[in-house]
Order: sequence, then structure tokens, then C-alpha cells
Amino acid sequence: MEIIPAFDITRQYQTLRHELDEVFARVMAGGSYILGEEVKTFEKEFAEYCGASYAIGVASGTDALILSLLACGVGAGDEVIAPSHTAVATIAAVELTGARPVLVDIDLARYTLDPEQIAHAITERTRAIIPVHLYGCPADMNPILEMAAKKKITVIEDASQAHGASIRGTRVGSLSEIAAFSFYPTKNLGAFGDGGAVVTNDPALAEKVQLLRQYGWKQRYISQIKGMNSRLDELQAGFLRVKLRHLEEWNQRRRHLASLYIDLLSGSDVTLPPQPADVEPVFHQFVIRHPKRDAFRETLRAQGIHTLIHYPHPVHLQPGYVNLGLGRGNLPNSEKAADEVLSLPMYPELTEDEVRRVADACLKFS
Ligand SMILES: Cc1ncc(COP(=O)(O)O)c(C=O)c1O
Repeated sequence: MEIIPAFDITRQYQTLRHELDEVFARVMAGGSYILGEEVKTFEKEFAEYCGASYAIGVASGTDALILSLLACGVGAGDEVIAPSHTAVATIAAVELTGARPVLVDIDLARYTLDPEQIAHAITERTRAIIPVHLYGCPADMNPILEMAAKKKITVIEDASQAHGASIRGTRVGSLSEIAAFSFYPTKNLGAFGDGGAVVTNDPALAEKVQLLRQYGWKQRYISQIKGMNSRLDELQAGFLRVKLRHLEEWNQRRRHLASLYIDLLSGSDVTLPPQPADVEPVFHQFVIRHPKRDAFRETLRAQGIHTLIHYPHPVHLQPGYVNLGLGRGNLPNSEKAADEVLSLPMYPELTEDEVRRVADACLKFS
């Protein structure tokens, strides 16, 4: 039986091998391996792609969040509102700045922060809100931005799963003051190791992130402020430049495969992914929901179809975050999502026949 893997990044590598080999040879021979010309050029190209003025390459998506928070002045004594149904990195980043994460529930129709729940969670200590554009679908930004503007709270997009997604033609990364991206290998734009970027239109924030990512240096060996080491290396930037040229075509392909899944599965007992009006998603994951998720998943596995769960445990129920004081029942939508979501195979190199095989297997479950 042919296995359909949940993801397979080697298929993409095979199609780009020659271009990537050229990057490898060029960077190796160039003798500059960290924060050089490849990084500078990638930063320009990625900012342009996001429709923003600045992109700053950093070591990971988690660091991109930490640096964004620090650049916005978030620290001890502050509260930061974020969803519990997210990659734990979103919350880990908040904790690492010394601020307190305030976890709120999601809107199940979208899997992103519920603006009404945010309104209840705002206090005078709230310094920032982190909407996560989960699975490639932008969060409901308009009400969030309006509320934040009224209360003078910073909005930091976690765009790690949504490179290229947009709301009414404006791409994530330029919807709010500052945004964090991850280039983890399986992302829509993924490196061959760790990488991330902070994207902003604000020159002061861009400069602050640039200082923070390298010891506070404007000039070598003189720290203007206290900083850290979170640099993007030349090889990853060179590889990302190659992949960025294909990102639009890959996102288009993901949308095409998603609409095929939707056609084949509509009318079944599977809850299909959100399709909010005015939004162009990029289907980082194709996530369905089923009340008997674990049995459903087993049935697929028995037919050679591998799936993943993003994410099986909301952050507020994980042992590392008991300090947040939220137990089961506090965030019911996040808990329901964790119990029922299933990510079907989704990557640009997936074939239509494979999508049909997955859909057939889904339809066989009763
Ligand atoms: C929503 C979200 N935020 C943050 C991150 C952290 O990115 P990284 O793994 O590059 O640190 C990820 C990726 O894992 C993510 O999916």
C-alpha cells in the first residue's frame, strides 16, 4: 500500500535541487556566513512580498515573537493576550519576556482569537495582543485592531503559518504594527533549518529589532542597548530567496488542492476549514474536525494515509503552564478544537489523485 505522508518536504527539495546547490556553492565560496548580502537581499525581497517597509531576519519564529515583544516595550508587569489554541511557541515567547500571557478562547468558525473574548480580557496592564493566523487563515483583524487602537494596545501578528495570506488584498505582516514569521522547514516558506523574520512598517521598531538581534550593536562592539544573538545565516537566507520566488505558485496550488478537498468532502459529517469572506487563506494546514477524531484518524492510517493533530493540547492545559491558573472548562472552544481537529495531508507537491484517495478514505468512515 502506498503511503500518503502528512507532509513531505523532500519532494520540494527535489524540484529545487539545482537552484539550491548554486546557493550553497555561492555562499560557501563567498566566505560570509552570517548577516551578509544574502540576508540583506532576502530581507528586502520578503518585506516587499509582505507589502511592508522592513523585514529583519532572525534565528527562528519564536525569536521573531520575542524580539517583536521586546521592541514594543513589553516586559515584566505587562499582560499579553493570546490564544491557547496555538503552537506553544506563541506563549513561550511571551513568558520569556517576563510578561504574563492571558489566554483567551478562539472562534471555532475560524480557529483564531475571538474578538469578544479579547474585550473581556483587557485590563489596564494589557500591553499587547497576539492574533495568530492559524493554519494559514488570517485572524479577524478589524475588530481586534479597532479595540487595540482605542485602548492603545499594540497588535503583534503571529504570521508563522500564513506567509502570503491576505485580508481584502492586504497581506499578513502588514496588517498591524509588527509581525513575526517562522521559516521552520515545513512552513509555506521554510528554510533548511531554523529561521524567522520580523516585519514592520515602522522605522523605529525596525531599528530596535535590528539592534536587539545582535547585542544592541549599531556599530560592532558597542552595545547601544542590551541585546541578544538571534541572527539569520547566509545559507538559510539564500535558500529562502530561491523558495520565495515559488511561494505564490505554491500557495495557489495549496488553494487549488483545498478546493478539491472541499468539493469532495462537502455534505459529509466532516467539519470543513473556515472560508471567511474577504480573506485569501494559504492553507498551511488543511484542518477538518470530527467528533470521533481518533477513530477517524485510525481508519485513515489503516489505509496508508498519515495525518497530524495541530494541536492535541491547548496551552492552558499543558503542565508547563499550570501557573496561568486555567483548568479544563475555562476555554471550551480551544478544548473542543484540541479534541476534534485533524490535519489532512496538504503540501503543494501533493497530487490530485492523492487528495482523491484521502477524501475517499474520509468518506468511508461512518
Ligand atoms: C503559530 C506559530 N508561532 C510560532 C512558531 C515558532 O516558530 P519557530 O519554530 O520557527 O520558532 C510556530 C512554528 O512552529 C508557529 O506555528
